[in-house]
Amino acid sequence: MYITGFLVCLLLKGNVAARTPNNSLLEGLLKFIPEGTRYYEEEPPDAKKIIPEYDFIVVGAGSAGSVLANRLTEISEWDILLVEAGGRENYAMDIPLLANFLPFTEANWKYRTVPSDNVCLGMVNRQCLYHRGKVMGGSSTINFMVSTRGNRRNYDQWEEMGNTGWGYKDVLPYFLKLENMTIPELARDTKYHSTSGEQPTSYATYRTPLADAFVNGGEELGYKIVDYNGETQTGFSYLQSTTRDGARWGASRSFLHPIRNRKNFHVSKRSLVTKILIDPITKTAFGVRFVRNKKEYEVRARKEVILSAGAVNSPQLLMLSGIGPRKHLTEMNIPVIQDLKVGYNLMDHPGMPSATFIVNQSVTYLTDAVMSNRSAFLDYLYNRRGPFSVPGASEGIAFIDTKDPKNPDGNPDVELFFLAAGIPSEVTYYKLLGYTDELYNTVYKHLEGGHYWTAVSMVLQPKSRGRIMLKSSNPRQSPLIYHDFYHNPEDLETQLLAIKEVMKLSKTQAFRKFGSKLHDIPIPGCKHLLFGSDDYWRCVSRHTATGIWHLSGTCKMGPHWDSSAVVGPRLRVYGVKGLRVIDASIMPMVPTAHTNIPSMMIGEKGADLVKQDWDRLD
Ligand SMILES: Cc1cc2nc3c(=O)[nH]c(=O)nc-3n(C[C@H](O)[C@H](O)[C@H](O)COP(=O)(O)OP(=O)(O)OC[C@H]3O[C@@H](n4cnc5c(N)ncnc54)[C@H](O)[C@@H]3O)c2cc1C
Ligand SMILES: *[C@@H]1O[C@H](CO)[C@@H](O)[C@H](O)[C@H]1NC(C)=O
Ligand SMILES: *[C@@H]1O[C@H](CO)[C@@H](O)[C@H](O)[C@H]1NC(C)=O
Ligand SMILES: *[C@@H]1O[C@H](CO)[C@@H](O)[C@H](O)[C@H]1NC(C)=O
Ligand SMILES: *[C@@H]1O[C@H](CO)[C@@H](O)[C@H](O)[C@H]1NC(C)=O
Repeated sequence: MYITGFLVCLLLKGNVAARTPNNSLLEGLLKFIPEGTRYYEEEPPDAKKIIPEYDFIVVGAGSAGSVLANRLTEISEWDILLVEAGGRENYAMDIPLLANFLPFTEANWKYRTVPSDNVCLGMVNRQCLYHRGKVMGGSSTINFMVSTRGNRRNYDQWEEMGNTGWGYKDVLPYFLKLENMTIPELARDTKYHSTSGEQPTSYATYRTPLADAFVNGGEELGYKIVDYNGETQTGFSYLQSTTRDGARWGASRSFLHPIRNRKNFHVSKRSLVTKILIDPITKTAFGVRFVRNKKEYEVRARKEVILSAGAVNSPQLLMLSGIGPRKHLTEMNIPVIQDLKVGYNLMDHPGMPSATFIVNQSVTYLTDAVMSNRSAFLDYLYNRRGPFSVPGASEGIAFIDTKDPKNPDGNPDVELFFLAAGIPSEVTYYKLLGYTDELYNTVYKHLEGGHYWTAVSMVLQPKSRGRIMLKSSNPRQSPLIYHDFYHNPEDLETQLLAIKEVMKLSKTQAFRKFGSKLHDIPIPGCKHLLFGSDDYWRCVSRHTATGIWHLSGTCKMGPHWDSSAVVGPRLRVYGVKGLRVIDASIMPMVPTAHTNIPSMMIGEKGADLVKQDWDRLD
């Protein structure tokens, strides 16, 4: 065990020394699995033999797919195959502080948006980086571990759109079913929390004094300190995260590790599904084609094929298989089986992370310093304590309804996501965001080594919509992601309101104690504008904001009379038998939440819909 810790320490240090996300040492670290740790015993093994036919085939072992596979395999007479394009998890993914390193590994699909003239202007080639997990657990294995459900009105709105069974009263039981709330004072509220589910929610085991400044600053501004996953959402809070005992607990660890010994459960890893097999006459899905280790397999599903491949890949797979907009598929030379609005309605939460505040004390995370602190690492390894347990340096969240700020039960349109670090704190941040070297070197580089905080200002109820399209009929080709997230000018105005909230917060007594000061070197593309003016921040947003990886909505759920719907409220694809989509792509409106827990809820409810339809729900 000691040797293990020492080795990881060395690897961590090596990586930091090189200070570039693209180096083999980091890849080495991320492939490194200390002997005797859980990964050898606990992750479901790769199935040695794939049988020709299963009852259900689930595509994608992500947030929704992991929950779904767990619940479906409860029925012992059902054989389930879970097909996942990525490989297994490893030790480094467990360490919350390293979250921002993971997108540089092969556990990411590494998608980019199509260049736009309106947004992502400060990014290399004007492309935002749209990270997506490609690993057991999907995006929950590489995400920032923020645990949020959203507002009750989000789900009531889904229901009002015609989605019977998706109102808040219907989905709350599923949020409870999956949760293991390990924060005692929150767990007491049993109307909103549960301790019997598989998904732990915790506080980090460490906090900087700035975390308190954030929460106290919010109070100074007149907001309440709340449990945003409780009765009301608006206010300021410490971050609740999908962690336990200082380590990440993604969807695979929570929902798949415990069922690794189920006899009716097969997992096929590193297996890229290239097509859903559909009989064009009866319009019935009967299996999938996938490639594993250069070998092609065709496996049949007796009952259903279920897509849980996420908001980019589920629509991609539908289109590759002949389900999608007729005109587009015809242009791609794909025979049309069902004409549906697949790939439309793409949503995300635009987030502006570039406003950086300088503080005058050593109270923030310098990943470099933390990683080269051997005693901090050993403390983490043996006791799960200290800065390594903090999800990518993020410590607090505020939900604000700018239209009704005094209302303690508001409907938040804005989120502030607080990090006790800034872009110059750690070189992976700007690479993660895709900023050009020119932008970084001009604005931030000379600040390296100092102490900063940031509150990423986010637009929670976006009006703009993007679209996913195929580039070609080749399943290995990344799809095209069009996402001008300020296309509707109201979204840019909401962004501006969010930035103003951050500015107010920075001027509170709580932050002034730390000499908090806005870093005022202008973003190169915006230096013609008066620094700090509304137009300046609009410009900065168009240069430096990104969708913060809450992609959703691209296989929209809606009633039969909604011509933009791809699946109905039972998540069955319209016009095709034996085929469902169960993941973030079915969200008709993105909730006012980070989307991991909502995606798990969809997996949870989706599993019950399947069981009900096959008469197996007691
Ligand atoms: C960097 C990052 C940070 C984030 N931070 C947070 C956060 O802090 N909190 C939060 O709530 N949300 C966060 N999110 C978003 C959240 O993780 C996702 O919304 C959620 O995980 C989506 O769940 P899903 O089941 O729809 O898809 P995913 O979890 O992405 O799962 C899809 C799975 O399908 C697999 N797959 C796709 N195509 C194929 C194919 N053709 N064949 C086989 N397998 C395939 C993928 O490899 C993947 O494992 C973040 C996301 C990212 C990328
Ligand atoms: C990373 O480095 C390798 C080898 O040095 C190089 O081939 C590859 O193109 C680099 N990738 C990126 C994304 O820069
Ligand atoms: C919930 O988490 C606690 C640790 O905080 C653990 O002891 C317990 O077994 C977990 N419960 C479930 C149902 O996994
Ligand atoms: C290293 O970590 C230890 C234990 O967490 C802490 O007490 C110490 O101050 C840290 N040292 C430095 C130089 O940051
Ligand atoms: C930081 O700035 C604040 C406000 O100006 C001041 O009160 C405090 O003494 C400063 N602290 C240090 C360590 O310089």
